[in-house]
Amino acid sequence: MGSSPAQAKHVAIIMDGNGRWAKRRALPRAMGHQRGVEAVRKLVRSVGSMGLDCLTLYAFSSENWKRPDEEVDDLMNLMRKFIKSDLPEFIANDVRLKIIGDWQGLAPDIVAMLEDALEQTSGGSRTLAVALNYGAQQEIARAAAKAAAIGEVTDKSIAAHLDTNDLPPLDLLIRTSGEVRLSNFLLWQAAYAEMLFVDTLWPDFTPEHLQTALDDFADRERRFGGR
Ligand code: FPP
Repeated sequence: MGSSPAQAKHVAIIMDGNGRWAKRRALPRAMGHQRGVEAVRKLVRSVGSMGLDCLTLYAFSSENWKRPDEEVDDLMNLMRKFIKSDLPEFIANDVRLKIIGDWQGLAPDIVAMLEDALEQTSGGSRTLAVALNYGAQQEIARAAAKAAAIGEVTDKSIAAHLDTNDLPPLDLLIRTSGEVRLSNFLLWQAAYAEMLFVDTLWPDFTPEHLQTALDDFADRERRFGGR
């Protein structure tokens, strides 16, 4: 396909390195996550001006339950605070919230909060998709089961039943903190995505870093299996 500069429409980020950011400063891990939320907030504010239609963030994986209870509680409390404080801003900025993953399995008060936030932002033109209690293998298995139930196990049918079925194709997947793996994130959707692994720890990741990544993406030639 074309070699002309392309504007990424859908970017997903594995936000990694909160713990190391805190450790380097001899701060509690919770502080790293707190600063991680700050980084999220700044990024969401800049999405519109960067021409993105969708930003998808890996906030809590289905494997993150294995962390100590205290850390899981900290992350869930940050989620509660974030939704409460930033919902008015989402509405004002035309941001539609979307949740992917098995989020109905979260605490009932969070589920209720999210349902309310989803409803209040449903008219937004740009999407912030947050992966909560998310695992890509589980998502694919759920989608495949639904496809099988209608007797149509094809790639198109499975894709149509993924949690991301109403999102644009994934253009670029970024992971921060120097780790080079996908950790069960968007395995299906990443089939043709460009990937970028940066050393920056998540709390230090700024809208300028994202803009650099988008400029870099625009310069890459994507072939989608063709020549
Ligand atoms: C990875 O850092 C980060 C997470 C497991 C959670 C990401 C969550 C946030 C940025 C905050 C919540 C998000 C929202 C949208 C409110 P790590 O703890 O694995 O870092 P480490 O690998 O350095 O230990």
